[in-house]
This record gives sequence, structure tokens and C-alpha cells, in this order.
Amino acid sequence: MIGIKTARAIAHSNIALIKYWGKREGTPGVPDDLNLPAVGSLSLTLDSLRSETEVGPSPSERDAFVLNGEHRGDTMAAKVFRHLDRIWAETGNSGPRPPCQVISHNHLPTSAGLASSASGFAALTLAGAAALELDASPAALSALARRGSGSAARSLWGGFVRLERGHLADGSDCQARPLFPASHWDVRLLIVHTARGPKAIGSTEGMERCRRTSPYYSSWVDTSEGDLAAAEAAIAARDLAALGPVMEQSCFKMHACMMATYPPIIYWNGVTLEVMRAVWEAREAGLEGYATSDAGPHVKVLCLAATAEALAERLAAQPGVLAVESVGPGPNAQVEVFG
Ligand code: DP6
Repeated sequence: MIGIKTARAIAHSNIALIKYWGKREGTPGVPDDLNLPAVGSLSLTLDSLRSETEVGPSPSERDAFVLNGEHRGDTMAAKVFRHLDRIWAETGNSGPRPPCQVISHNHLPTSAGLASSASGFAALTLAGAAALELDASPAALSALARRGSGSAARSLWGGFVRLERGHLADGSDCQARPLFPASHWDVRLLIVHTARGPKAIGSTEGMERCRRTSPYYSSWVDTSEGDLAAAEAAIAARDLAALGPVMEQSCFKMHACMMATYPPIIYWNGVTLEVMRAVWEAREAGLEGYATSDAGPHVKVLCLAATAEALAERLAAQPGVLAVESVGPGPNAQVEVFG
């Protein structure tokens, strides 16, 4: 049997400022396992929220997955091993993939709209590729991470990252690239927690329902490239007043598209809306912040580092808010091979 190495990777979570929501319709003859997004996206990688994943030979004859100290044999484990199969297929080795042990720690709430799949699949891709000795460029690894979860393609780099929609049927031009490193701009993302527990509808299913039933889906897709260009220019100029409105509108367009599906998808709760109002009121009062939210009820607020403390305090006082975390721009993902 072919031996494999043991490798450990750390990848940080990211939050999309310009959202990815929706998948390209399958191309005849191309496996839909490619997970190709219908739109490009632009994100900020976050410090402190991260996944650490080790991939190595399994001590038994079978694959094993341990997440946060707990053995898993569920659909999440199946997704993990399927992703290792993709990596193995890319190595060009013939024969079955050797059984692997995957030990992962998420330093963030799993499946609560805080993008654990982004950091999780990015770390799994890097550790898996190193353990299975796949020789691939960072861009190719990003495309591979995308097949596990679209947002994971962006978590390979720190700072501000853009994932291109791409046009090729094989997905090879659908890769992320770093735009600006974490040091480019001293911003903070305030994560305003408004609920506990996992989300009701996974993003993959929510996206598909939008594509099939939302009358707003095509407008959502058609306006995305313009948002990406405007956001990239605003970030280059470190211009929060220019970035904020585009970023908020990308979020609201995505959620409007979801709400218009049938059955409707509403990830927000009442507190989500009240927090958004509080963000706008704070802005009027001179504390400049801009809100976004993902497939969950939490609100994320982008502001300058100098404003973060006062704004966080104000939002924490909002009824129903459970906690406010202030997170800065995070670093590149890293991988280490040790055996
Ligand atoms: C709302 O990357 O979780 O967070 O590719 O189906 O795994 P899959 O989806 P996923 O979707 C992320 C959606 C989002 C916006 C974003 O991160 O761009």
C-alpha cells in the first residue's frame, strides 16, 4: 500500500463583503461535483476564527474523522472523505486512496452562519494535499478547496481575497486570489451574535432553491460583477464610505432573493433586523459601520479599528444581542508536514 504523510494546516475563516450565492447550472458532460459559483465574490479573512486540521494515515483500515474531539460518522464525515478522494484523484495515483485519519478543530461555532465550511475545507485541502503529496499551485489548491465549499476557495489567503466566477467548463479559472494583505487596512469586523444553534437550511440547498424559484435570481447574478469592481476599487483606496454601501447592498440583494423563493428562506430573526437598524442609527450619530449577514441570523459590521470599541459597546447594549466579538483581518493559511 502507498504510504502517506502526516500534515497539519491552519486556515482562517472569511466573511464575504460581496457575496457568493448560487451555482452555475451544470454543463453537459462535466461532473457537477465541480461546485462552480454563478457569481464571483470578495471577502475579508478573519483573525482568530480558524480551523486546524491534521490529515495522516489511519491507525485502522478505515477512514476516521474527529471534529472537536468527537468521532463523526455522519454526512459531514462523508463530505470530508469525498474531498480527500478528489485530492487523491488529482495526484494521478491509480488504485484506492489509503485510509486516512482527519483530526479537526474549529475555533468558531460550527454551521451557525459563521463560515466554518470555509476555514474547514481550506484547511482540509491544504493538509490533505500535503499528506497525499499532491503537487499543485496555490491557485489550483484554491480551485480544489472550492469543490468542497465555494467560500473555502477564499480562505487560503489572508486579508482581502477575490474569487472569480470563471467561465471555463472544467472550473480551472474559478480560483481565488489575494487582493490586499491583512496589513493593507486596519479594519474590524464586529460579529454580533443574535442566536445560538445551527442554521435551519444549509447554503447549498438555499442556493439551489433560489436558482429554481426566486424571480430575483437573475438580477442578483447580473449585478454582481459591478459590485465586485466597485468594492475592489474602494478597498484599494481604503475608502469605507465607498465600500460600505456596496457591501450592504450585496447582502440585501442576496437576502431579498432568498425571501422571494418558495417556500421562502429567511435566515434572520427579529434581533437581526434591530441590530441592522442600530448600525444605521450609530452611523448617523458618527460611528461609521456597515452591516452584512450570511446564511444565519448574526450580523457582521465592518468598521475602522478606531471606531470598533465604541460601536461594539453600543451594539452589545441592543436587546437580544448575546455577544459582540471584534475581529481583525487574518493571515494566510499555513501547512506543515511532519512525518
Ligand atoms: C452566504 O461556501 O457555504 O456565506 O459552496 O454550497 O458549500 P457551498 O456554499 P458556502 O456558501 C457561502 C454563502 C455565503 C456567502 C459567501 O460566503 O460568499
